[in-house]
Amino acid sequence: MKQPDETEASASFSFDDTPLARELADLSARRRALDTTNVELSGRTRILTVSNQKGGVGKTTTAVNIAAALVDRGARVLVIDLDPQGNASTALGVPHTAETPSVYDVLIDEFPLADIVQVSPESPKLLCAPSTIHLAGAEIELVSQVAREHRLRTALEEYLPNAEAHIDFVLIDCPPSLGLLTINAFTAANELLIPIQCEYYALEGLSQLLGTVRMIQKHLNPRLHLSTIILTMYDGRTRLAQQVAEEVRQHFPKEVLSTVIPRSVRVSEAPSFGQTVIAYDGQSAGAVAYREAAVEIIRRDSASNEGGA
Ligand SMILES: Nc1ncnc2c1ncn2[C@@H]1O[C@H](COP(=O)(O)OP(=O)(O)OP(=O)(O)O)[C@@H](O)[C@H]1O
Ligand SMILES: [Mg+2]
Repeated sequence: MKQPDETEASASFSFDDTPLARELADLSARRRALDTTNVELSGRTRILTVSNQKGGVGKTTTAVNIAAALVDRGARVLVIDLDPQGNASTALGVPHTAETPSVYDVLIDEFPLADIVQVSPESPKLLCAPSTIHLAGAEIELVSQVAREHRLRTALEEYLPNAEAHIDFVLIDCPPSLGLLTINAFTAANELLIPIQCEYYALEGLSQLLGTVRMIQKHLNPRLHLSTIILTMYDGRTRLAQQVAEEVRQHFPKEVLSTVIPRSVRVSEAPSFGQTVIAYDGQSAGAVAYREAAVEIIRRDSASNEGGA
């Protein structure tokens, strides 16, 4: 005859001990933790450039979702879309047809940023400087311009002190290259945020990126520093993802956020609704991870003396 506690043990094994059940329990605990977590904004403006010359690693997804998660924490955030593909503008639901005044006009025709910044329908605190297809030509057009590496920085220096309300964060979404657009972002920013996709070849190209950063520090912007690495599209079921994450943490123990962004369908489908995943499904695993990452980013500032503008 079966003992009663044996039956209970086997029943609890069949339900609570499945990986899915554990994941769900973990997710609801993390949601509760986020609800009870308080973070304070520093009152300064932090300018982060989200860069990696490798394509498709999650730069845009990270820029827009961290931005929305920061807004959720009370921050006022400006996303600068510096990629001619205009993916960040799309994800923030901001019009960016060829006729829209854009970052192109700021970089090439010296329009004030205030003339092109739009408010995302998602929140009055979420702002976007859109990109249009014209920006594809800017890379070449900038070559012959005076102060070609400083255009974005100058525009921000004029905009930030005169903005309607204090901006807590500027996030610059870079194209997948190390051309003049990215160099403008490096010259304008204080912090570099590198998204790394947890796949083979993840670290390839990183030394070239960091070499460029060292050149920028030396010649154009001594304030720029690598403050944050975020692991994206993580699939914990594969050993490869675990190995890549471990290797990146070994190389950059201080910079890598503890939060890892999981591969998630909700994250990838949000932009087709012109939304961030925070608005689209704020309780999903991807949204929870981006909300946790935003908390870490805010907290890291209070722990360091750098990064102010
Ligand atoms: N956590 C995630 N889960 C699932 N899909 C994701 C996730 N993050 C990004 N993606 C998808 O991966 C693709 C590349 O992401 P994204 O556009 O953010 O990369 P990127 O580095 O900005 O690319 P590019 O170099 O072209 O600018 C997109 O289709 C995006 O929806
Ligand atoms: Mg992109």
